[in-house]
Amino acid sequence: MKGIILAGGSGSRLSPSTDSINKHLLAVYDKPMIYYPLSVLMLGGIKEIMIISTPEAKPRFEELLGDGSSLGITLKYSEQKQPNGIPEALTLSKHFLKNDAVTLILGDNIFYGQGFTTLLRHALRNHKHATIFGYRVKDPGRFGVVEFDHRQKAISLEEKPEEPRSDFAVTGLYIYDNQAVKLANTLKPSARGELEITDLNKAYLRRGQLDVELLGRGFAWMDAGTHESLFDASEFVKITQQRQGFKLACLEEIAYYLGYISREQLYKKGKAMKKNDYGAYLLEIADRKHTQQYWDTIDRNPMLGLVE
Ligand code: TTP
Repeated sequence: MKGIILAGGSGSRLSPSTDSINKHLLAVYDKPMIYYPLSVLMLGGIKEIMIISTPEAKPRFEELLGDGSSLGITLKYSEQKQPNGIPEALTLSKHFLKNDAVTLILGDNIFYGQGFTTLLRHALRNHKHATIFGYRVKDPGRFGVVEFDHRQKAISLEEKPEEPRSDFAVTGLYIYDNQAVKLANTLKPSARGELEITDLNKAYLRRGQLDVELLGRGFAWMDAGTHESLFDASEFVKITQQRQGFKLACLEEIAYYLGYISREQLYKKGKAMKKNDYGAYLLEIADRKHTQQYWDTIDRNPMLGLVE
């Protein structure tokens, strides 16, 4: 299983903040936005990840995250020259994917909630062809909407429908088998001139190969694509972290507890950044015994074995 983070786009709704900076490099409270989707792929146990951004932003992401070795993972980078649509992430990655399955996540999507790692790893292990994640929202008409039966098989999919058939939006996290590149190649641009991910999901639906996982009310799913949602997401991260003393999407913490980096590496990184809160946190977890208990509950769960 490989991973792709799509972090291109124009970010026009966040202009002027994004006029000279890629949206996914903006901070969501105390860390760059891209940390959040990267943390999701890491928690899923995915170690080979492609980050797709714009030609201008690619060197900035490389500067920020390097080749991934400091996190015990492998990061590759590529460019999407124009925002031609989400399925292009798959065709652009065909040499990287070879014949493997892939988890694609949008760079501005934030997932958080009790049991998310369990749910994700369960979905990755049991995944057959395509799996999407549904989340109940108040305003489904703004999203791709999925209707499903009692077995959680999708029945219909509609992009921004005027009369939604369900309250479940399709989130920006998708698991596909090795047919994805071939199917993405057959798509035609929609009326707005983009390849639509809903059309790719519909191709799987027509084959009876689209499964839906539901994120219940205990989950938070946010995208940080507008000034308001970016502010809300920052506030959510701040409040959650302040209350619990755990950081969300702290990549080094995840790498440490997954056994990808040593305590010494964690300590070294923390020491280099010790004047700020992030660095201080790394030092704290390098020393903190009871955090281990929380991670042990994940590690001991037999359902949570890492995917290959
Ligand atoms: P959007 O929020 O739909 O688009 P955008 O990021 O360009 O922003 P705006 O609408 O304000 O102009 O994109 C959702 C996510 O997918 C976001 O993380 C960017 C990414 N994306 C790409 O990288 N390439 C694309 O071609 C598209 C359509 C989106």
